[in-house]
Amino acid sequence: MIDIHNHIIYEFDDGPKSLNESLEMLRIAVDQGIKAVFATSHFSEVIHPEQEKDYFEKLQILRDKIQEKSIPIEIFSGSEMFYHHYLEKTAKQSKVGTLCALGQYVLMEFPLYLMPSGVEETLFRLSVEDITPIIAHPERYSTVIDHPAKVYDFLKHGALLQVNAGSVLGKFGRKVKKVAMWLLENNLVHFIGSDAHSPKGRTFELANTAEYLKNHLDENYLAELVEKNAQNIIDNKRLEKIQLEETEEASNLFLRFKRKLGL
Ligand SMILES: [Fe+2]
Repeated sequence: MIDIHNHIIYEFDDGPKSLNESLEMLRIAVDQGIKAVFATSHFSEVIHPEQEKDYFEKLQILRDKIQEKSIPIEIFSGSEMFYHHYLEKTAKQSKVGTLCALGQYVLMEFPLYLMPSGVEETLFRLSVEDITPIIAHPERYSTVIDHPAKVYDFLKHGALLQVNAGSVLGKFGRKVKKVAMWLLENNLVHFIGSDAHSPKGRTFELANTAEYLKNHLDENYLAELVEKNAQNIIDNKRLEKIQLEETEEASNLFLRFKRKLGL
């Protein structure tokens, strides 16, 4: 499996507090059957050259250490970009802005409790720059829980969705799990990410999540979610977006879903 969303860079964001904790996390990832991770540390509007340098230096130290200690995993660069209006400029101008520094995919997140205005314009500008946004954990945003059709706006603008393993396992509550499962069961998701932050608590849980999902999803789709789509990013291939006709249908489904579950 390949995990496209985690915080394994030490002493950088709210992830691991030491190099040892990072290595402990990577060992857990290997135990889960993960062969590669994208180190998506938090970044926001202003990226100082020193901050980016610090990120890449620590990434290199981790790569050297895993080789030295024979931990069989690969680490690719990336970021979890906090939403801001001119996100396409940040993504273009910084090496860390796009996954694997390939200039194609940006993993982005919103504030959990307030969806900013202007999101659709930003998604549009990203598409003009030929950058595909990947929305991190859509199921966790209160706007999405209250108005599930909001996801339709993301998909309409060519965004891809990444659901958290913890959401599927119910670690963020009943409503978040319901939204996550609904998105997955309607084939609207491209990735399941761990969003791991530490060796304990929020850690890598892709294996148990995949095991749980075996009973709910088609085998091929599950393989895409936990590996194939991420591999295509590494290979610099374009992923197929959700088609508009399907999302229009999805929009109606979302409304029915909301009524059905009383969210
Ligand atoms: Fe994250």
